[in-house]
Amino acid sequence: MSNGAYRVVHDRCTSDPAGFWGEVAEGIDWITAPTQALDDSRPPFYRWFPDGVMNTCYNALDRHVAGGRADQAAIHYESPVTGSSRTITYAELLEQVAKFAGVLRAQGVEKGDRVVLYMPMIPEALVAMLACARIGAVHSVVFGGFAPAELAARIEDARPKIIVAASCGIEPSRTIPYKPMIDAAIRRSEHKPDHCIVFQREQVEAEMGENDLDWVTVMNDDSIEPAECVPVQATDPLYVLYTSGTTGKPKGIVRDNGGHAVALNWSMPNLYGIHPGEVFWAASDVGWVVGHSYIVYAPLLAGATTIVYEGKPIGTPDAGAFWRTIEKYNVASLFTAPTAIRAIKKEDPDGEFMKQSDLSNFRRLFLAGERLDPDTYEWAHAKLGIPVIDNWWQTETGWPIATNPVGIEELPVKPGSPSVPTPGYDVQILDEQGNQVEAGTEGAICIKLPMPPGTLPTLWQDDDRYVESYLSAFDGYYLTGDGGYIDSDGYIYVMGRTDDVLNVAGHRLSTGSIEAALAGHPSVAECAVIGVADQMKGQIPRALVVLKSGITLDDAGEAELKKELVGRVRSEVGAVAALREVDVVQALPKTRSGKILRKTMRQIADGQEAMVPSTIEDASVLEVLRPVLRHE
Ligand code: COA
Ligand code: AMP
Repeated sequence: MSNGAYRVVHDRCTSDPAGFWGEVAEGIDWITAPTQALDDSRPPFYRWFPDGVMNTCYNALDRHVAGGRADQAAIHYESPVTGSSRTITYAELLEQVAKFAGVLRAQGVEKGDRVVLYMPMIPEALVAMLACARIGAVHSVVFGGFAPAELAARIEDARPKIIVAASCGIEPSRTIPYKPMIDAAIRRSEHKPDHCIVFQREQVEAEMGENDLDWVTVMNDDSIEPAECVPVQATDPLYVLYTSGTTGKPKGIVRDNGGHAVALNWSMPNLYGIHPGEVFWAASDVGWVVGHSYIVYAPLLAGATTIVYEGKPIGTPDAGAFWRTIEKYNVASLFTAPTAIRAIKKEDPDGEFMKQSDLSNFRRLFLAGERLDPDTYEWAHAKLGIPVIDNWWQTETGWPIATNPVGIEELPVKPGSPSVPTPGYDVQILDEQGNQVEAGTEGAICIKLPMPPGTLPTLWQDDDRYVESYLSAFDGYYLTGDGGYIDSDGYIYVMGRTDDVLNVAGHRLSTGSIEAALAGHPSVAECAVIGVADQMKGQIPRALVVLKSGITLDDAGEAELKKELVGRVRSEVGAVAALREVDVVQALPKTRSGKILRKTMRQIADGQEAMVPSTIEDASVLEVLRPVLRHE
């Protein structure tokens, strides 16, 4: 590996984290600059910039308007699904955000109150997020592909004062009315928000109830004053983003204000090579962490231009959509999921569409959200002729744990690896006893505490679950939940989750939620969901169900049951779960303590060598299942 700048920065970060990040913190504007970078007085809890006071929205908007970027585009909205596009400057975005912040305030939203957002990829989603940040309210965005039960679980945990929504989301195959889903979620939830503010879209107008407010009406209400930025502690929460664990109860990942702004602002030039005034496009969704960090906050904190893209890589209308958008807006770098590239590759294997667009200013393609398989890497690299950079991270960390830090030093790429630990992350591979393993040996990928600024300080109102989920396996380490190894050059290889979390088309889903939806069917006694390898989506869920005793079904009855089960998952979890395959089986393989052997079943289904634990209760159950899992 090369000698240079990366090693120097990484070593400095590891040996003197407080000194390093203290200096980096000067990159944002503080109301009261922190006198201390890291509070490590309460391990395993760490806090960055404990006495700093600032405002994230100020750093994302006001300071750029004041600093000469008022007329620069902040957002290019490109919506092939509606056939529309528009550009919003920093000055215009600031005006809208300040007004919407005033609207929230007029509805009684104060610093620390939560606001749930259920919105598609439209600029108003960013306006609402930044408006919350402006007044110190805590936003919690719920991905539009989640069904009412998932939305209800998040409402119940976050206890929002207000919900902000659009009247519909638009998928290539259909328009999805959001309001009935929100109403259903509120009915299911014990917590009831005071109001729902709805942005009406012409494709589907929402029917408004007595607690609902119309976005345009409140924004045009002259009696509502725009709100100024409210000073918050660096350690105050900016947002809560729920992510899937193995259980059905989502985990509320907390993001603080100060550490987040410092880390993301630093990441743009140093990790992504993006400078103020350039256009950075993360083709994700604001409902995911990539959307929070690299559609909304990082590009705006850094004074760059972001793109809000309401469409798909293919089918809206074709596999050339990404390349045309890159040309249209002079995009310097695109960030998306490997699945999107696999979809484009399938439709346009020779890259004909790329040739029709001028991509001369397109410098790099960044991919994350799931493992970047070498085939997809090679195809994209060969067809585009630019660096293709894999970066590995999680909702919990908020920015890459491993990447090729192109702004510090562009390291050689090794296909199959997201390159090296990002400066600030002390990544180690541990065996079951918690010992560091040799280079090349697989184990649990862990991060030595403290993690850098911007990573989760805890789970929303649940320190115990935070410790239990992430910090209790190995003392002094954060457990990523991924397995893998580090080679002798220090390159990390992420091989997949060691728990039962699914990753479908770059979307993280919980086995527990899908199983709960299946188990709710009156004929199901027990069930298991596993994520099996899929050429396009990386993984897809597969369900195995055992019927209640006494229930026998003929072929037609079984087909009907499967249809009902697929429908249940769609309506309880959401269409993104994409469950298509259900098998009715006699029994599920378990350990003697009753733990279902999902990993073993997954390995069999994927045609890998299966690890059968010695504690298996009845090995014959697995043998009966083997041909079912292998489709033999
Ligand atoms: N709201 C409502 N429904 C949604 C949705 C949303 N925001 N996003 C997806 N869905 C629905 C889709 O309409 C689809 O429903 P269907 O079963 O009725 O067709 C289902 O969820 C599955 O969607 P998707 O995962 O998008 O699969 P697809 O087969 O429609 O498209 C790809 C395949 C590859 C084009 C698509 O998965 C993709 O764009 N992937 C990139 C993922 C990504 O950017 N991830 C972000 C992580 S960084
Ligand atoms: P999420 O929290 O939704 O971002 O999902 C995080 C999980 O996705 C990680 O724990 C990994 O399992 C997987 N993941 C994300 N990026 C990568 C990557 N570049 N390589 C391998 N796995 C990844």
